[in-house]
Amino acid sequence: MDISSTRSLSRDLADLTGKDFISSSDLNANQINSLIELAIKFKKEERRIDLANRVLGLIFSKASTRTRVSFQVAMTRLGAQTIDLSNQSTQLGRGETIKDTARVLSRYCDALAIRTHNNEELIEYAKWSTKPVINALTDLEHPCQALADFMTMQEVFGDLQGLTLTYVGDGNNVVHSLIIMGALIGVNIRVACPKGFEPLPSVVEKARSLSGFKSNIDISNNPLEAVKDSHAIYTDVWVSMGQEEQKQERLKLFKGFSLDSDLIKLADDKAIVLHCLPAHRGEEISDELMESKFSRIFDQAENRLHTQQALLAALLGGL
Ligand code: CP
Ligand code: NVA
Repeated sequence: MDISSTRSLSRDLADLTGKDFISSSDLNANQINSLIELAIKFKKEERRIDLANRVLGLIFSKASTRTRVSFQVAMTRLGAQTIDLSNQSTQLGRGETIKDTARVLSRYCDALAIRTHNNEELIEYAKWSTKPVINALTDLEHPCQALADFMTMQEVFGDLQGLTLTYVGDGNNVVHSLIIMGALIGVNIRVACPKGFEPLPSVVEKARSLSGFKSNIDISNNPLEAVKDSHAIYTDVWVSMGQEEQKQERLKLFKGFSLDSDLIKLADDKAIVLHCLPAHRGEEISDELMESKFSRIFDQAENRLHTQQALLAALLGGL
């Protein structure tokens, strides 16, 4: 085992030290591949990095199971710590500005992981924090999730280049980060959504330009066509956090956009099923498919831990 706090991470990862991770587009292809490589080493217990005494502040204003706990465990495995901060327990809830909060917290913490609605708030934190700011999910993106998703595909298929991932469902934060990261690393992305629920055109255009048009990005309203010969079929909830009042309307409009055992038959023979979780079985995915041999959903959830451990080691300079 390589247990070292002095051995350098690859140059690609060392370049990330002190940087923010707000969007999938904050990484380049080499950095994504190196983070996945390091995450796989952490998973196999072939590498240990010591970030002794560093502290990650968790500012979550939305619910979370995987993201919060995987950040907590990742920091523990790095010999470091987290502290839980929230709008309720800090003066943020009483109107203290992000500008002041970020400047104060970055005097105590070595990085901040933030889950909130408005992506602009995250950008405001990053503007004023002197320490790395990590997107733990906003309404626009969920880039930490995308790292774990592509690690899971790499574990199954060996090489990501040229694979096709098809996302069926709502064109939301999760798919935005997948489109951008897929474009960077050469994974073709197809998205099938009900009309009016497509990913933001600005995100799709950004991904296309980042890929140099080398990976295909297809947006459609036809899941049956989209999944044909795909290597991974992915979905997420139809009602994201903050959209609860649209629930009844969305449940009607998204009918026909569920992942089930019939849909997977149209995909590649070796196709896998992914879901970022939490799942609403019987809505965006059938119970049967979640429990089937095609599902890598719980490996994917586990990989949140390993990829975030790699990300923290890089951003916090565990060299
Ligand atoms: N996938 C994900 O981010 O899960 P949590 O909302 O539980 O963190
Ligand atoms: N799109 C979902 C993802 C949850 C991890 C949401 O934003 O609620």
